[in-house]
Amino acid sequence: MNSRMHASEDALAELGCAPVLARPAPRVLIGGLGMGFTLAAALRVLGPDARVTVAELVPDVVEWNRGELGACAGRPLDDPRAAAVVGDVAARLRAAPGELDAVLLDVDNGPGGLTSESNGWLYSAAGLRAAHAALRPGGTLAVWSAHAAPAFTARFRKAGFEVQTHRVRERPGKGAVHTVWVGVRGGALSG
Ligand SMILES: C[S@@+](CC[C@H](N)C(=O)[O-])C[C@H]1O[C@@H](n2cnc3c(N)ncnc32)[C@H](O)[C@@H]1O
Repeated sequence: MNSRMHASEDALAELGCAPVLARPAPRVLIGGLGMGFTLAAALRVLGPDARVTVAELVPDVVEWNRGELGACAGRPLDDPRAAAVVGDVAARLRAAPGELDAVLLDVDNGPGGLTSESNGWLYSAAGLRAAHAALRPGGTLAVWSAHAAPAFTARFRKAGFEVQTHRVRERPGKGAVHTVWVGVRGGALSG
């Protein structure tokens, strides 16, 4: 990802929010903030009564987005529907049983290539079960990855989600191909 190549980060938000757009006052949790493209894309598709919380591990990333870096994605943290919290998104997941409509995860290279071992829990069976418990019925968990990971798809389904796998280029029509999984808790997706 850089300031020109963020189509798959946008797609994470568009695909992950699509099944819950018609809900009143949907609550969305994003981990992490990065350059704010996923947050900006979520705010573009969600309605005026949505609430989006972004959990970001690194305090400086939040500060940079409140400063000059914020211009890259159109200053999404200035949107009154958005709130940034500093901390591990795993803690936010555990703290919100049955309260969320969508969870969008882009904290690492994905389940097949972690840069931080501590993020492994999010992609594990226990982490997927925690996301399932954090969602309202029919809510979505969307996960971004630099690589395909068939074993993760199977684990995702086993945790109680109807899962669809999307292959998305980093720029429209060109560049690297990334993977976005969308799992619906008790939903009707297949594939
Ligand atoms: C690849 S960037 C996210 C890019 C973002 N989707 C965008 O559109 O700009 C990953 C971000 O997740 C943060 N992060 C890593 N592990 C995290 C965790 N466990 N909880 C919250 N944020 C985390 C990193 O500091 C980094 O800012």
